[in-house]
Amino acid sequence: MRILRAVGSRLSEIRIMAPLPFLSRPPRCFSRLQQNHLQSRDQFSFGVAFDIDGVILRGRVPIGGSPQALRRLLGDSGSSKVPFVFLTNGGGLPEHRRASELSELLGVKILPSQVLQGHSPFRNLLKRYEDQLIVATGKGEPALVMSEYGFKNVLSLEDYASLFENIDPVSQYKYWATKKPMDRSDLSRNIVPTCDIHSKSVKAVFVVSDPVDWGSDIQVICDILRSGGIVGHKGGTQPPLYFAADDLEYQAGAFFFEAAFPSERLGLGAFRIALESVFNRVHHSPLEYVSFGKPNPFVFKNAESVLNQFQPADEHGGFKECGPVAHPFETLYMIGDNPFVDVKGAREAGQPWFSILTRTGVFRGEHNHAEFPADLVVDTVEDAVDYILRKESRS
Ligand code: G3P
Ligand code: MG
Repeated sequence: MRILRAVGSRLSEIRIMAPLPFLSRPPRCFSRLQQNHLQSRDQFSFGVAFDIDGVILRGRVPIGGSPQALRRLLGDSGSSKVPFVFLTNGGGLPEHRRASELSELLGVKILPSQVLQGHSPFRNLLKRYEDQLIVATGKGEPALVMSEYGFKNVLSLEDYASLFENIDPVSQYKYWATKKPMDRSDLSRNIVPTCDIHSKSVKAVFVVSDPVDWGSDIQVICDILRSGGIVGHKGGTQPPLYFAADDLEYQAGAFFFEAAFPSERLGLGAFRIALESVFNRVHHSPLEYVSFGKPNPFVFKNAESVLNQFQPADEHGGFKECGPVAHPFETLYMIGDNPFVDVKGAREAGQPWFSILTRTGVFRGEHNHAEFPADLVVDTVEDAVDYILRKESRS
């Protein structure tokens, strides 16, 4: 049940292999005439999906002129005039918390419905697992994310593991495990399972974001999956395992204002490979799993339908959500930094997606990426938005 295999691209013959010369130093201002032309439309023929890590932010620091770029998509009142969303494989926080964090960091009002994270599609599994015992892991607040989606019986892997003495044989050597735990008072609601953990089977494991302690997570996930969901028991069918994304590497940021590490860091996909390798050595049948996130074309289809639900707002608000509109976009721009994820996904999604690769994250090449060339390569997200607005004002 592996769903992340590449499929052939139909668009390779029309890729631009080098940055357009005029984009290397684009003008920063957009004329009033062009602006009026855009604002006078009732419906937009285009929309934009922004990757976050490596395009908009590095850690918590805005990059590539992202605040200015986003402001150019807003009207005078600060409300959105162009449909746009953030399409990220990152996560670990509920969408409303991520939206407030982005609004604060970028100085632009972002609505929760504009934030599509790697784990957002987990919502679609609510019907199946709403009352079932599930385990969630990853950085941030994985159990809170799942409980806010409506899952009633979710435990973080850390909390689940703490119910089994010595499940991690090296825990006493982990200095962070002996520190005072962070304040988790906001997590206590709705996440305590209403069952006896030692006899009730875990029905699914969700890797919501990058795991913090790979060793412990691999150990405990193997324990759950090999035992059929009841740790300590023998045999049983492997419970389903879901990953929010499968990025092998990504452009990580630093914590607050420290300098970011200069090269890419191992991501969720690397963790999946490690877990799969170990599991397949200790278990008789191979690991089964499902991965969401870019480059899965489903994610792009979903982004398209979210963008389609927005209408330019009036002067009083941000985006107005007004239900599905049967209005096909001519172009949807995916602005990303990772050819293997953002560009590959947009290419495989096909029309109306148009991929723009920036040089602020995973990709730093002079020309285009050899294996997954983008429709356009630019230096920064600000250059990308400049290109989009110029192009759309002409069409
Ligand atoms: O874990 C990888 C994730 O942080 C990448 O995020 O925004 O580049 O899709 P993004
Ligand atoms: Mg990225």
